[in-house]
Amino acid sequence: MIIEVKNLKKTYEGIVPTHALKDVNFGVKKGEFLALMGHSGSGKSTLLHQLGLLDTPTAGKIIMEGVDLMSFSEKQKAEFRLKKLGYVFQSYALLPELTALESVYLPLMLSGVSKKDYIKKATEMLTKVGLAERLEHLPKEMSGGEQQRVAIARALVNDPMILFADEPTANLDSESSLAVLKLFRELNKKTGQTIIMVTHEPDDKEYVDRVIWLKDGVIEKNKK
Ligand SMILES: Nc1ncnc2c1ncn2[C@@H]1O[C@H](COP(=O)(O)OP(=O)(O)OP(=O)(O)O)[C@@H](O)[C@H]1O
Ligand SMILES: [Mg+2]
Repeated sequence: MIIEVKNLKKTYEGIVPTHALKDVNFGVKKGEFLALMGHSGSGKSTLLHQLGLLDTPTAGKIIMEGVDLMSFSEKQKAEFRLKKLGYVFQSYALLPELTALESVYLPLMLSGVSKKDYIKKATEMLTKVGLAERLEHLPKEMSGGEQQRVAIARALVNDPMILFADEPTANLDSESSLAVLKLFRELNKKTGQTIIMVTHEPDDKEYVDRVIWLKDGVIEKNKK
């Protein structure tokens, strides 16, 4: 198992506390393409944020490759995120002043890769997602589908152990959505990339190995 989740709970404190995750248990195998589905408010993004070390659970354990991540300091978490995890969000989250090439080489630069190598790797990754002709384009000079492919190239350039995606196709037209899903499937099949993707689209089931259905913060179904 690349991930083991044990008795995971997340409560958002407030005047009325929200129990977003209530005792969630599951495992993810290396090389699996897993979808998280369920109604709005069921806890999908909350679960993804806990798994991606973007938030701190209220209780429970997340074990990745045998390491209990709950024992990590904030600094260790930050390093783990940079070196081992990749993220793709609905909003692309590209910096407006960076070209496609700069966006993609930034994580490599931050990891201390040499200039020659980070330019080479970023160019290769952008070519892989079909953007060889867009290296010098700014986000505002690209379509939504192209911007999302830049975000995917950026997430993958550090060769992450796990790729997390939260509704990566929600802002895209059906053609671009299909291109993104097919790209994920291909990456998963060809390179064994482990992917955990939140989606609203029932049709996306066809592209993944397994679906975990959430309902009110608990797992309702855990199968295809
Ligand atoms: N930062 C927060 N503070 C307080 N409550 C929150 C916070 N984030 C989410 N929630 C609540 O936690 C519950 C789960 O939210 P979450 O965002 O995980 O749902 P989701 O399944 O991703 O929904 P959607 O499909 O609409 O994106 C909801 O009731 C939501 O209102
Ligand atoms: Mg969500």
